[in-house]
Amino acid sequence: MAAATINGKDCYATTVCVTGATGFVASWLVKRLLEKGYTVHATVRDPENKMKVRHLLDIPKAGEKLKLFRADLIEEGSFDAAINGCDGVFHVASPVDFTPKDPENDVIKPAVDGTLNVLRACTKAKTVKRVVVTSSTASACINESEEQDQYIDETCWTDVDFLRSKEPPAWAYGVAKTLAEQAALQYGKDDAGLDVVTINPVLVVGSAITPNVPYTVGLTLSLLTGNDQSIEALKWIQKIYGAVSLVHVDDVSSAQIFLMENPSAYGRYICSAINISVPQLAHYLSKRYPQYNVTTQFDDVPPIPKVNPSSKKLVDSGFSFKFGIDQIIDEGVEYLKTKGLLD
Ligand SMILES: NC(=O)c1ccc[n+]([C@@H]2O[C@H](COP(=O)([O-])OP(=O)(O)OC[C@H]3O[C@@H](n4cnc5c(N)ncnc54)[C@H](OP(=O)(O)O)[C@@H]3O)[C@@H](O)[C@H]2O)c1
Repeated sequence: MAAATINGKDCYATTVCVTGATGFVASWLVKRLLEKGYTVHATVRDPENKMKVRHLLDIPKAGEKLKLFRADLIEEGSFDAAINGCDGVFHVASPVDFTPKDPENDVIKPAVDGTLNVLRACTKAKTVKRVVVTSSTASACINESEEQDQYIDETCWTDVDFLRSKEPPAWAYGVAKTLAEQAALQYGKDDAGLDVVTINPVLVVGSAITPNVPYTVGLTLSLLTGNDQSIEALKWIQKIYGAVSLVHVDDVSSAQIFLMENPSAYGRYICSAINISVPQLAHYLSKRYPQYNVTTQFDDVPPIPKVNPSSKKLVDSGFSFKFGIDQIIDEGVEYLKTKGLLD
């Protein structure tokens, strides 16, 4: 299956497309791919907007190996030019909006129709062997069950009917990620020539090359910054998802590339390094960073996680996580200091 080589090493793909390249997760992936010697076709909504693409153009080797393409999820055929000539595609673009005005049109439709739009471009290109679609554990963990310590593996799906009927905060994001991932896997079954693999990361943290501080980094470290609105959102995450599970952005990129390069990869892969509750995280942070006076009293959120997303399938396939809780948090703290959000 490995046909091409990069730096003398057999690879499944050498020219790849990354969709939504301006974003937190995708820009880190582009950086890692360029480091590894890949040629990258990166899609962005507005290549002329220097503020939004500068961090991509500044990555070492971008001059020789990175090409930007304009593409929008909601425009049919928009990804054709970027995907043409690629042998692998990382589909990362998706609206990450937890408080949309119009949930169907702002979040759900672009995520689902956009994913199919990208996959149809892959079929048309005829050269694409594998697509790694970045989903989320928002497609696996959300359910109404009262059961504690639920083991979440790749057979688990979020209950879309529950989200649509109860409309808890950020419900549309969970619906969008679930339906888009299901559509992607079904497309892979229907198109025998295209290998579709999905990855389901938990909350992604660490540092970033984006100009803005990623929402999830600020959210996870809100107990240190004391941002009350983000602390409330973090508690909601635990209530809706069942846990505050964390993974370092670099481990996500490594896992995405691992899934592209591993010929035997199939189906879904949960990508989670740490599983914790808000009270447990608060106790951890107050010990490790006593100078920030972290609140540890929480009466309105369960003391332990309700769900336990497992990366057993990913690890059993040969992937190893490099970042544990100390490195994830320490790097996030140093990053927020450089952005002036922590003293
Ligand atoms: N961060 C996390 O904790 C986390 C966890 C699990 C899964 N994920 C998944 O990882 C992916 C990236 O998330 P992120 O945290 O990196 O978010 P992000 O920084 O907001 O990136 C989202 C990207 O999607 C692009 N996008 C949104 N709507 C689009 C549209 N209509 N057409 C084309 N591109 C569009 C954005 O482009 P613009 O820059 O033009 O807006 C941006 O590049 C998403 O699929 C998300 O669901 C993230």
